Amino acid sequence: VSPFKRGATFSETQSETCELADIDWDDLGFAYVPTDYMYSMKCTKGVNFSKGELQRFGNIELSPSAGVLNYGQGLFEGLKAYRKEDGNLLLFRPEENAMRMIMGAERMCMPSPTVEQFVDAVKATVLANKRWVPPPGKGSLYIRPLLMGSGAVLGLAPSPEYTFLIYVSPVGNYFKEGVAPIHLIVEYELHRATPGGTGGVKTIGNYAAVLKAQSAAKARGFSDVLYLDCVQKKYLEEVSSCNIFVVKGNTISTPAIKGTILPGITRKSIIDVARSQGFQVEERLVTVDELLDADEVFCTGTAVVVSPVGSITYKGRRVSYGEEGFGAVSEQLYSVLTKLQMGLIEDKMNWTMEL
Ligand code: COI
Repeated sequence: VSPFKRGATFSETQSETCELADIDWDDLGFAYVPTDYMYSMKCTKGVNFSKGELQRFGNIELSPSAGVLNYGQGLFEGLKAYRKEDGNLLLFRPEENAMRMIMGAERMCMPSPTVEQFVDAVKATVLANKRWVPPPGKGSLYIRPLLMGSGAVLGLAPSPEYTFLIYVSPVGNYFKEGVAPIHLIVEYELHRATPGGTGGVKTIGNYAAVLKAQSAAKARGFSDVLYLDCVQKKYLEEVSSCNIFVVKGNTISTPAIKGTILPGITRKSIIDVARSQGFQVEERLVTVDELLDADEVFCTGTAVVVSPVGSITYKGRRVSYGEEGFGAVSEQLYSVLTKLQMGLIEDKMNWTMEL
């Protein structure tokens, strides 16, 4: 039940409700929890978005002929806000998401909000939903910006109108395993992305395209799928919802960004954190065979943060990396990254934005 009075203005309701939402903060997974407000902004002509506004969270109206519904002209982003012990909120690198949306919009023939519009909209949405940001140590507020062709089209063409929308949901761990190791299966028949395609941008269709392999993997007891390149079928690409890293000694390798792999913001941050901790990081082609003698494997993503991989199965052969929890390297990187995100250590990188 919403605690807000019908007809109350946004500032009235804000001054009335600074406390936390009444939910079980110890039981957050990655399932949608409806919150109070969403943000909406439109571009009806040309390339500029008009001033956006906060609205009560709820369903949206779209023409059945909207470009996003018919031809998949849509992008999304994901970022998080954390609550600090002093009650202030921290965003992690929101400008990076804004810039990634601008790049993706160019590929999908869409106009996009400026970095400033994007970041201002994120801040406004988080503050409006402040009571849904979990207490320190209980999780985060997942922020989901969407950009979609909302205008009606029938013949295949860019949409005549675009909507930028942000909604939020409190979240805990992404995988049901929590922070326990996940189990992956290498998929070598179905592919996530092709050279020249859209694998390197966060378009909605990339995620629909992995559901078949992911569902089949889950039905067999795996946590998710690791994709290979579609040409040689031997180089690692990414997992359905996150990037992959392979550790051997003091060297950490991850597939280089080359158009078929999502340029993850957590991926980029972990590379910098790892280098700052004295590891050698290589962005290059990583073969599936390198999994066989890796010391550790882990995944990174906004939703998954850093997730240790317990085993990988490839063509019937299973390689285990330890079932207990994090490996030493992923634990170290997870610890530094999450302390930075939660404001528990000094942010020398200047990555966080306090609200
Ligand atoms: C994220 O990590 O934010 C993503 O966009 C992945 C999504 C499938 C949850």
